Amino acid sequence: MTTAFYRRIEGTSDFHGPEAVRYDRIMAHAAEFFGRYGYRHVQTPVFETTELFARSIGDATDIVEKEMYTFQPGSESVTLRPEGTAAVVRAFLQNHWAATGGGQKFWYAGPFFRRERPQKGRLRQFHQLGAEAMGSGDPLLDAETVYMGLTLLSELGITRTLTRLNTIGCLAPGCRPQYRERLRQALSLDMEKYCPVCQKRFHRNLLRILDCKNPKCRELASHLPKSHECLCGACEAHFAVVREALTALGVDARLDATLVRGLDYYARTVFEFTHEALGAQDALGGGGRYDGLVKEIGGPDTPAIGLALGIERMMLALETVDGCACEPPLQIFGISLGDGPRRAMVGMLARLRQAGLSADMDYEGRSFKAQMRVANKRGALFCLILGEDELGRGEIVLKDMREGAEGQISLPLGDLMGALLGALRAAPAGAAKLSCPAAEGARP
Ligand code: HAM
Repeated sequence: MTTAFYRRIEGTSDFHGPEAVRYDRIMAHAAEFFGRYGYRHVQTPVFETTELFARSIGDATDIVEKEMYTFQPGSESVTLRPEGTAAVVRAFLQNHWAATGGGQKFWYAGPFFRRERPQKGRLRQFHQLGAEAMGSGDPLLDAETVYMGLTLLSELGITRTLTRLNTIGCLAPGCRPQYRERLRQALSLDMEKYCPVCQKRFHRNLLRILDCKNPKCRELASHLPKSHECLCGACEAHFAVVREALTALGVDARLDATLVRGLDYYARTVFEFTHEALGAQDALGGGGRYDGLVKEIGGPDTPAIGLALGIERMMLALETVDGCACEPPLQIFGISLGDGPRRAMVGMLARLRQAGLSADMDYEGRSFKAQMRVANKRGALFCLILGEDELGRGEIVLKDMREGAEGQISLPLGDLMGALLGALRAAPAGAAKLSCPAAEGARP
């Protein structure tokens, strides 16, 4: 009989071992980190009405045009969330979180879905950490947001990042609309020299021509008018404060006139973090101000800014800088032989776990030797060995796995917890092998 194996959907991933350690490390750090900046956790559904994303991200963007997973199970068309900002804004409005005061800063983490061509660092289901601050148009908050993203990366050990910064102005007639017109005029002189994708963008999404990856387009685009030189007075003043504040915070942000981002909701400040080790998909994260979005989807005029970091890309960057992706060692492995000892071991491990120790045992009725092999394979720091004889004498053997036959002692069952806690406390938490001073002291 043949076994049918199902395979993962293209562009999705399973992870385990060192990758899972990196993922857990990022997630564990995020909750504490965002709390330090006054952000509170928010969870939204993984699907929303299609209209929410189309309206927020923009009909003429790659995401809405060709990357959304959209389906219609009933009368309503729904879409697996391709990004988090639109959903947080929807939740902010629907739940009247503005009225509850205080909580204007939200962070989130979870899976997102885009039907892109899979490659290294580009998945169809990926994970993001995001943060959205609603209600303030203060340029100092723009600087705080950029600084926060960079600091999160560096606290995780991801350095060698490049910060790109730009402003795309606002919707006032003398700002982006005027810039767009200047751009259109400049482009129309030699549009035939650009790649076919840019030629399409000329009609659908003009600004995206600026960030085309095609080398010829990049060269041509470097001579085009720059958005930061065509701002209205208010946007110019705003951007000047952002740059000054970033300098004061020690952030080396490179002004990059080709940075326009692939979502239509942005206004004014936009930024991206890239990492040299990531290859073609080098953006670790990015974000910007989206002052018009809350109003666009039915709320009051509310300035806002946010960012999102790609967790898989952070994991890739951590591979290059991370010396320690080892799973925390199992502290105790219980080896027991016979029914009575096995039952006693279950109770003992329960008490050790209540005391905060990690402990596991064999549940497959293996021989002593085979249980020992499992303990070694699991990297256990200590083994507890309990047979009928030990149980009869009210004793247990504690074995320090770093040492050979030397490293084991018999203890009265009642002394076990103290001996173990002492030995583990004396050793570094993540060490692969620990010394066991308590046991050594007790050794004849
Ligand atoms: P985004 O630039 O589209 O922005 O995505 C943020 C990050 O998510 C990217 O820099 C990248 O690291 C990761 N990412 C995006 N697509 C993929 C993919 N297909 N595979 C793997 N990783 C990916 C946003 O999503 C905005 N919502 C950010 C934001 C928040 N702006 C304001 N607030």
